[in-house]
Amino acid sequence: MNIPDQPDIPYQKLQEIIENAFNGLKIFNILETSLELGIFDKLKQPVNLDNLSKKIKIDKVLSFYLVEALLKIGLIEKEGDLYKNSKLGQLYLTSDSAYSRINSMLSLKENAELWNNLNNTLQGNLKKKEESFFPKIIQVMAEDCVVGELQDTIDLISSYEDFYKYKRLLDLAGGHGMYSIAFSKINPDLECNVFDLPEVLVETRKYIKNYNAEVNTIPGNFYEDDFAGTYDIIFSSYNPGGKNPEIAKKIYNSLNLSGLFINKQYFPVNENFTLEEVLDNLEWNFTNFEKSMKGESRYSFQGDLSFEEYIKFLEDLGFDILDIHSLSHLNPSFGTFSKNKIIIAKKVR
Ligand SMILES: C[S@@+](CC[C@H](N)C(=O)[O-])C[C@H]1O[C@@H](n2cnc3c(N)ncnc32)[C@H](O)[C@@H]1O
Repeated sequence: MNIPDQPDIPYQKLQEIIENAFNGLKIFNILETSLELGIFDKLKQPVNLDNLSKKIKIDKVLSFYLVEALLKIGLIEKEGDLYKNSKLGQLYLTSDSAYSRINSMLSLKENAELWNNLNNTLQGNLKKKEESFFPKIIQVMAEDCVVGELQDTIDLISSYEDFYKYKRLLDLAGGHGMYSIAFSKINPDLECNVFDLPEVLVETRKYIKNYNAEVNTIPGNFYEDDFAGTYDIIFSSYNPGGKNPEIAKKIYNSLNLSGLFINKQYFPVNENFTLEEVLDNLEWNFTNFEKSMKGESRYSFQGDLSFEEYIKFLEDLGFDILDIHSLSHLNPSFGTFSKNKIIIAKKVR
Protein backbone atom coordinates (compact mmCIF):
# COMPACT_ATOMS: atom_id res chain seq x y z
CA MET A 1 0.00 0.00 0.00
CA ASN A 2 1.26 3.42 -0.96
CA ILE A 3 -0.21 5.74 1.69
CA PRO A 4 -0.77 8.81 -0.57
CA ASP A 5 -2.97 6.67 -2.91
CA GLN A 6 -6.74 6.64 -2.41
CA PRO A 7 -8.32 3.14 -2.03
CA ASP A 8 -9.60 1.73 -5.35
CA ILE A 9 -13.19 1.61 -4.15
CA PRO A 10 -14.55 4.66 -2.27
CA TYR A 11 -15.09 3.82 1.43
CA GLN A 12 -18.34 5.82 1.32
CA LYS A 13 -20.07 2.76 -0.21
CA LEU A 14 -19.49 0.74 2.94
CA GLN A 15 -20.10 3.67 5.28
CA GLU A 16 -23.59 4.17 3.81
CA ILE A 17 -24.50 0.55 4.58
CA ILE A 18 -23.21 0.85 8.14
CA GLU A 19 -24.83 4.20 8.81
CA ASN A 20 -28.25 3.15 7.50
CA ALA A 21 -28.13 -0.01 9.56
CA PHE A 22 -27.04 1.76 12.74
CA ASN A 23 -29.58 4.56 12.36
CA GLY A 24 -32.27 1.88 11.93
CA LEU A 25 -31.13 0.32 15.21
CA LYS A 26 -31.24 3.70 16.98
CA ILE A 27 -34.73 4.52 15.68
CA PHE A 28 -36.00 1.05 16.59
CA ASN A 29 -34.77 1.54 20.17
CA ILE A 30 -36.23 5.04 20.36
CA LEU A 31 -39.61 3.60 19.34
CA GLU A 32 -39.51 0.70 21.77
CA THR A 33 -38.36 2.88 24.67
CA SER A 34 -40.90 5.61 23.90
CA LEU A 35 -43.62 2.96 24.14
CA GLU A 36 -42.22 1.60 27.38
CA LEU A 37 -42.10 5.13 28.82
CA GLY A 38 -45.69 5.70 27.68
CA ILE A 39 -44.69 8.83 25.73
CA PHE A 40 -47.53 8.53 23.22
CA ASP A 41 -50.12 8.16 25.98
CA LYS A 42 -48.67 11.28 27.61
CA LEU A 43 -48.77 13.24 24.35
CA LYS A 44 -52.46 12.75 23.62
CA GLN A 45 -52.81 16.37 24.74
CA PRO A 46 -50.17 19.06 24.01
CA VAL A 47 -47.39 19.08 26.63
CA ASN A 48 -44.26 21.24 26.93
CA LEU A 49 -40.81 19.73 27.32
CA ASP A 50 -40.51 20.53 31.02
CA ASN A 51 -43.69 18.67 31.88
CA LEU A 52 -42.95 15.76 29.60
CA SER A 53 -39.46 15.36 31.02
CA LYS A 54 -40.96 15.25 34.56
CA LYS A 55 -43.68 12.79 33.54
CA ILE A 56 -41.29 10.32 31.94
CA LYS A 57 -38.59 10.97 34.57
CA ILE A 58 -35.86 11.50 31.98
CA ASP A 59 -33.35 14.36 32.02
CA LYS A 60 -34.59 17.40 30.04
CA VAL A 61 -31.79 17.43 27.45
CA LEU A 62 -32.20 13.73 26.74
CA SER A 63 -35.99 14.15 26.61
CA PHE A 64 -35.53 16.98 24.11
CA TYR A 65 -33.52 14.86 21.66
CA LEU A 66 -35.83 11.90 22.14
CA VAL A 67 -38.96 13.88 21.21
CA GLU A 68 -37.12 15.70 18.43
CA ALA A 69 -36.30 12.30 16.90
CA LEU A 70 -39.97 11.29 17.15
CA LEU A 71 -40.85 14.60 15.53
CA LYS A 72 -38.45 13.98 12.62
CA ILE A 73 -39.95 10.55 11.91
CA GLY A 74 -43.48 11.96 11.95
CA LEU A 75 -44.91 10.37 15.08
CA ILE A 76 -45.33 13.59 16.99
CA GLU A 77 -45.91 17.24 16.09
CA LYS A 78 -44.82 20.53 17.65
CA GLU A 79 -46.76 23.76 17.88
CA GLY A 80 -44.89 26.60 19.59
CA ASP A 81 -43.21 24.88 22.52
CA LEU A 82 -45.88 22.18 22.83
CA TYR A 83 -45.49 18.59 21.64
CA LYS A 84 -48.37 16.25 20.84
CA ASN A 85 -48.95 13.05 18.88
CA SER A 86 -49.29 13.25 15.12
CA LYS A 87 -52.41 11.52 13.74
CA LEU A 88 -50.26 8.46 12.93
CA GLY A 89 -48.85 8.26 16.46
CA GLN A 90 -52.25 8.84 18.04
CA LEU A 91 -54.01 6.11 16.04
CA TYR A 92 -51.42 3.36 16.29
CA LEU A 93 -49.25 4.02 19.33
CA THR A 94 -51.65 4.97 22.14
CA SER A 95 -52.72 2.17 24.45
CA ASP A 96 -56.48 2.75 24.30
CA SER A 97 -56.74 2.99 20.50
CA ALA A 98 -58.66 0.13 18.82
CA TYR A 99 -55.79 0.03 16.33
CA SER A 100 -52.99 0.08 18.90
CA ARG A 101 -49.80 -1.59 17.64
CA ILE A 102 -48.12 -1.60 21.05
CA ASN A 103 -48.10 -5.38 21.70
CA SER A 104 -46.86 -5.98 18.21
CA MET A 105 -44.07 -3.41 18.48
CA LEU A 106 -42.95 -4.52 21.92
CA SER A 107 -42.93 -8.16 20.85
CA LEU A 108 -40.17 -7.32 18.36
CA LYS A 109 -37.87 -6.72 21.30
CA GLU A 110 -37.51 -10.44 21.88
CA ASN A 111 -36.41 -10.89 18.27
CA ALA A 112 -34.12 -7.86 18.56
CA GLU A 113 -32.32 -9.61 21.42
CA LEU A 114 -31.67 -12.61 19.19
CA TRP A 115 -30.23 -10.29 16.53
CA ASN A 116 -28.18 -8.33 19.07
CA ASN A 117 -26.57 -11.60 20.17
CA LEU A 118 -26.37 -13.03 16.70
CA ASN A 119 -23.26 -15.10 17.27
CA ASN A 120 -24.90 -16.77 20.28
CA THR A 121 -28.15 -17.19 18.38
CA LEU A 122 -26.42 -18.85 15.45
CA GLN A 123 -24.79 -21.29 17.89
CA GLY A 124 -28.30 -22.25 19.00
CA ASN A 125 -28.05 -20.79 22.52
CA LEU A 126 -31.64 -19.67 22.99
CA LYS A 127 -33.65 -18.79 26.04
CA LYS A 128 -36.99 -18.60 24.21
CA LYS A 129 -39.68 -21.01 25.45
CA GLU A 130 -41.93 -22.85 23.04
CA GLU A 131 -44.80 -23.35 25.48
CA SER A 132 -45.69 -19.67 25.81
CA PHE A 133 -45.28 -18.92 22.11
CA PHE A 134 -48.83 -19.24 20.75
CA PRO A 135 -50.81 -17.55 23.58
CA LYS A 136 -48.45 -14.57 23.21
CA ILE A 137 -48.17 -14.41 19.44
CA ILE A 138 -51.93 -14.39 18.88
CA GLN A 139 -52.18 -11.08 20.78
CA VAL A 140 -49.70 -9.67 18.30
CA MET A 141 -51.53 -11.25 15.37
CA ALA A 142 -54.81 -9.75 16.55
CA GLU A 143 -53.20 -6.31 16.31
CA ASP A 144 -51.66 -7.16 12.96
CA CYS A 145 -54.88 -8.25 11.30
CA VAL A 146 -57.18 -5.53 12.58
CA VAL A 147 -55.29 -2.75 10.78
CA GLY A 148 -56.44 -3.85 7.33
CA GLU A 149 -56.02 -7.54 6.59
CA LEU A 150 -59.05 -8.64 8.57
CA GLN A 151 -61.33 -6.12 6.81
CA ASP A 152 -59.98 -7.10 3.35
CA THR A 153 -60.51 -10.77 4.14
CA ILE A 154 -64.04 -10.33 5.46
CA ASP A 155 -65.04 -8.13 2.50
CA LEU A 156 -63.74 -10.74 0.09
CA ILE A 157 -65.44 -13.72 1.71
CA SER A 158 -68.75 -11.98 2.27
CA SER A 159 -68.80 -11.05 -1.43
CA TYR A 160 -69.54 -14.73 -2.14
CA GLU A 161 -73.33 -14.97 -2.42
CA ASP A 162 -73.45 -18.33 -0.63
CA PHE A 163 -71.76 -16.87 2.45
CA TYR A 164 -75.12 -15.68 3.80
CA LYS A 165 -76.74 -19.09 3.17
CA TYR A 166 -74.30 -21.03 5.30
CA LYS A 167 -75.13 -21.90 8.91
CA ARG A 168 -72.00 -23.24 10.61
CA LEU A 169 -68.40 -22.05 10.37
CA LEU A 170 -65.17 -23.44 11.82
CA ASP A 171 -62.22 -21.09 12.24
CA LEU A 172 -59.46 -23.69 12.35
CA ALA A 173 -56.44 -22.53 14.39
CA GLY A 174 -58.35 -19.28 14.81
CA GLY A 175 -56.11 -17.96 17.62
CA HIS A 176 -57.48 -14.60 18.77
CA GLY A 177 -60.78 -15.37 17.05
CA MET A 178 -60.97 -11.94 15.41
CA TYR A 179 -62.03 -13.42 12.06
CA SER A 180 -64.86 -15.37 13.69
CA ILE A 181 -65.87 -12.32 15.68
CA ALA A 182 -66.10 -10.31 12.44
CA PHE A 183 -67.96 -13.12 10.60
CA SER A 184 -70.49 -13.35 13.41
CA LYS A 185 -71.05 -9.58 13.32
CA ILE A 186 -71.78 -9.43 9.59
CA ASN A 187 -73.86 -12.62 9.58
CA PRO A 188 -75.53 -13.20 12.98
CA ASP A 189 -77.21 -16.37 11.59
CA LEU A 190 -73.83 -18.03 11.14
CA GLU A 191 -72.67 -20.15 14.10
CA CYS A 192 -68.95 -19.40 14.41
CA ASN A 193 -66.55 -21.76 16.20
CA VAL A 194 -62.87 -21.16 16.93
CA PHE A 195 -60.77 -24.33 17.18
CA ASP A 196 -57.37 -23.94 18.85
CA LEU A 197 -55.13 -25.27 21.59
CA PRO A 198 -56.76 -25.06 25.07
CA GLU A 199 -54.15 -22.62 26.46
CA VAL A 200 -54.70 -20.30 23.49
CA LEU A 201 -58.49 -20.31 23.86
CA VAL A 202 -58.08 -18.67 27.28
CA GLU A 203 -56.94 -15.57 25.33
CA THR A 204 -59.53 -16.07 22.56
CA ARG A 205 -62.37 -15.85 25.07
CA LYS A 206 -61.10 -12.45 26.19
CA TYR A 207 -61.40 -11.11 22.62
CA ILE A 208 -64.87 -12.63 22.22
CA LYS A 209 -65.95 -10.94 25.45
CA ASN A 210 -64.34 -7.59 24.58
CA TYR A 211 -66.18 -7.47 21.26
CA ASN A 212 -69.37 -8.75 22.88
CA ALA A 213 -69.59 -11.47 20.23
CA GLU A 214 -71.47 -14.76 19.94
CA VAL A 215 -68.61 -17.12 19.10
CA ASN A 216 -67.92 -20.63 20.45
CA THR A 217 -64.54 -22.11 21.25
CA ILE A 218 -63.49 -25.72 20.63
CA PRO A 219 -60.30 -26.87 22.36
CA GLY A 220 -58.13 -29.34 20.50
CA ASN A 221 -54.97 -30.20 18.65
CA PHE A 222 -55.65 -30.40 14.92
CA TYR A 223 -52.98 -33.08 14.43
CA GLU A 224 -54.67 -35.41 16.92
CA ASP A 225 -58.32 -34.43 17.51
CA ASP A 226 -61.32 -34.30 15.24
CA PHE A 227 -63.05 -31.00 14.60
CA ALA A 228 -66.25 -31.64 16.61
CA GLY A 229 -68.86 -32.10 13.90
CA THR A 230 -69.35 -30.94 10.34
CA TYR A 231 -69.41 -27.44 8.91
CA ASP A 232 -70.57 -25.39 5.91
CA ILE A 233 -67.41 -23.27 5.94
CA ILE A 234 -63.97 -24.10 7.26
CA PHE A 235 -61.91 -20.93 7.38
CA SER A 236 -58.26 -21.05 8.19
CA SER A 237 -55.75 -18.20 8.37
CA TYR A 238 -52.02 -18.81 8.73
CA ASN A 239 -52.73 -22.23 10.12
CA PRO A 240 -49.40 -24.03 10.61
CA GLY A 241 -51.17 -27.09 9.10
CA GLY A 242 -52.48 -25.06 6.15
CA LYS A 243 -50.13 -26.68 3.62
CA ASN A 244 -50.26 -30.13 5.18
CA PRO A 245 -52.07 -32.94 3.28
CA GLU A 246 -53.21 -34.78 6.44
CA ILE A 247 -54.92 -31.66 7.76
CA ALA A 248 -56.47 -31.00 4.33
CA LYS A 249 -57.96 -34.52 4.46
CA LYS A 250 -59.44 -33.86 7.92
CA ILE A 251 -60.90 -30.59 6.65
CA TYR A 252 -62.47 -32.38 3.68
CA ASN A 253 -64.02 -34.98 6.03
CA SER A 254 -65.44 -32.26 8.31
CA LEU A 255 -67.09 -30.24 5.52
CA ASN A 256 -70.65 -30.71 4.33
CA LEU A 257 -71.14 -31.29 0.61
CA SER A 258 -71.10 -27.89 -1.22
CA GLY A 259 -69.29 -26.43 1.78
CA LEU A 260 -66.35 -24.04 1.40
CA PHE A 261 -62.77 -24.44 2.55
CA ILE A 262 -61.16 -21.00 2.70
CA ASN A 263 -57.44 -21.13 3.32
CA LYS A 264 -55.39 -17.95 3.78
CA GLN A 265 -51.82 -19.01 3.68
CA TYR A 266 -48.27 -18.02 2.89
CA PHE A 267 -46.63 -20.34 0.37
CA PRO A 268 -42.86 -19.79 0.36
CA VAL A 269 -41.11 -18.96 -2.88
CA ASN A 270 -37.65 -20.42 -2.73
CA GLU A 271 -35.82 -18.38 -5.32
CA ASN A 272 -34.86 -14.77 -6.09
CA PHE A 273 -35.09 -13.78 -2.45
CA THR A 274 -35.16 -10.08 -1.61
CA LEU A 275 -32.90 -8.94 1.24
CA GLU A 276 -35.99 -8.74 3.50
CA GLU A 277 -36.91 -12.34 2.66
CA VAL A 278 -33.39 -13.54 3.41
CA LEU A 279 -33.50 -11.77 6.80
CA ASP A 280 -36.96 -13.21 7.57
CA ASN A 281 -35.86 -16.72 6.64
CA LEU A 282 -32.76 -16.40 8.79
CA GLU A 283 -34.87 -15.26 11.73
CA TRP A 284 -37.38 -18.09 11.21
CA ASN A 285 -34.51 -20.54 11.65
CA PHE A 286 -33.25 -18.97 14.90
CA THR A 287 -35.82 -20.90 16.88
CA ASN A 288 -36.30 -24.41 15.72
CA PHE A 289 -38.24 -26.05 18.50
CA GLU A 290 -38.55 -29.78 18.47
CA LYS A 291 -42.35 -29.82 18.60
CA SER A 292 -43.00 -27.11 16.03
CA MET A 293 -41.57 -29.13 13.12
CA LYS A 294 -40.47 -26.01 11.28
CA GLY A 295 -39.31 -26.13 7.66
CA GLU A 296 -36.34 -24.16 6.39
CA SER A 297 -38.10 -21.10 5.02
CA ARG A 298 -40.38 -18.82 6.98
CA TYR A 299 -43.79 -20.08 7.86
CA SER A 300 -43.17 -23.53 6.42
CA PHE A 301 -43.30 -26.83 8.28
CA GLN A 302 -42.10 -30.37 7.69
CA GLY A 303 -44.45 -32.28 5.41
CA ASP A 304 -45.81 -29.13 3.73
CA LEU A 305 -46.81 -29.26 0.09
CA SER A 306 -45.82 -26.57 -2.41
CA PHE A 307 -48.63 -24.37 -3.69
CA GLU A 308 -49.07 -26.41 -6.90
CA GLU A 309 -48.96 -29.73 -5.01
CA TYR A 310 -51.48 -28.48 -2.45
CA ILE A 311 -53.97 -27.34 -5.10
CA LYS A 312 -53.68 -30.69 -6.91
CA PHE A 313 -54.15 -32.50 -3.60
CA LEU A 314 -57.36 -30.54 -2.87
CA GLU A 315 -58.73 -31.30 -6.34
CA ASP A 316 -57.96 -35.01 -5.96
CA LEU A 317 -59.74 -35.03 -2.59
CA GLY A 318 -62.96 -33.73 -4.16
CA PHE A 319 -62.66 -29.95 -4.07
CA ASP A 320 -63.36 -27.58 -6.92
CA ILE A 321 -61.01 -24.58 -6.69
CA LEU A 322 -63.36 -21.62 -7.14
CA ASP A 323 -60.78 -18.85 -6.85
CA ILE A 324 -57.28 -18.05 -5.70
CA HIS A 325 -56.91 -14.49 -4.50
CA SER A 326 -53.68 -12.68 -3.75
CA LEU A 327 -53.52 -10.82 -0.51
CA SER A 328 -50.30 -9.04 0.31
CA HIS A 329 -50.00 -7.59 3.74
CA LEU A 330 -47.62 -6.36 6.31
CA ASN A 331 -47.14 -9.24 8.65
CA PRO A 332 -44.64 -8.20 11.29
CA SER A 333 -45.08 -11.39 13.33
CA PHE A 334 -43.75 -13.54 10.53
CA GLY A 335 -41.59 -11.16 8.58
CA THR A 336 -42.03 -7.72 7.21
CA PHE A 337 -44.29 -8.30 4.24
CA SER A 338 -45.81 -11.44 2.87
CA LYS A 339 -47.47 -12.24 -0.41
CA ASN A 340 -50.27 -14.51 0.70
CA LYS A 341 -52.96 -16.44 -1.07
CA ILE A 342 -56.59 -17.06 -0.22
CA ILE A 343 -57.72 -20.34 -1.71
CA ILE A 344 -61.50 -20.72 -2.03
CA ALA A 345 -62.33 -24.39 -2.53
CA LYS A 346 -65.79 -26.00 -2.70
CA LYS A 347 -66.41 -29.60 -1.71
CA VAL A 348 -68.11 -31.04 -4.80
CA ARG A 349 -67.96 -34.77 -4.19
C1 LIG B 1 -50.06 -18.01 13.18
S1 LIG B 1 -51.37 -18.24 14.30
C2 LIG B 1 -52.77 -17.77 13.33
C3 LIG B 1 -53.87 -17.18 14.17
C4 LIG B 1 -55.04 -16.59 13.35
N1 LIG B 1 -55.72 -17.63 12.60
C5 LIG B 1 -54.56 -15.50 12.44
O1 LIG B 1 -54.57 -15.66 11.23
O2 LIG B 1 -54.16 -14.42 12.92
C6 LIG B 1 -51.45 -19.99 14.31
C7 LIG B 1 -52.50 -20.55 15.23
O3 LIG B 1 -52.45 -21.97 15.12
C8 LIG B 1 -52.67 -22.50 16.41
N2 LIG B 1 -52.12 -23.88 16.46
C9 LIG B 1 -50.83 -24.24 16.28
N3 LIG B 1 -50.68 -25.57 16.38
C10 LIG B 1 -51.92 -26.06 16.63
C11 LIG B 1 -52.43 -27.37 16.82
N4 LIG B 1 -51.63 -28.42 16.77
N5 LIG B 1 -53.76 -27.51 17.04
C12 LIG B 1 -54.58 -26.43 17.09
N6 LIG B 1 -54.16 -25.16 16.89
C13 LIG B 1 -52.85 -24.99 16.67
C14 LIG B 1 -51.94 -21.55 17.32
O4 LIG B 1 -52.33 -21.67 18.66
C15 LIG B 1 -52.29 -20.21 16.69
O5 LIG B 1 -53.48 -19.70 17.22
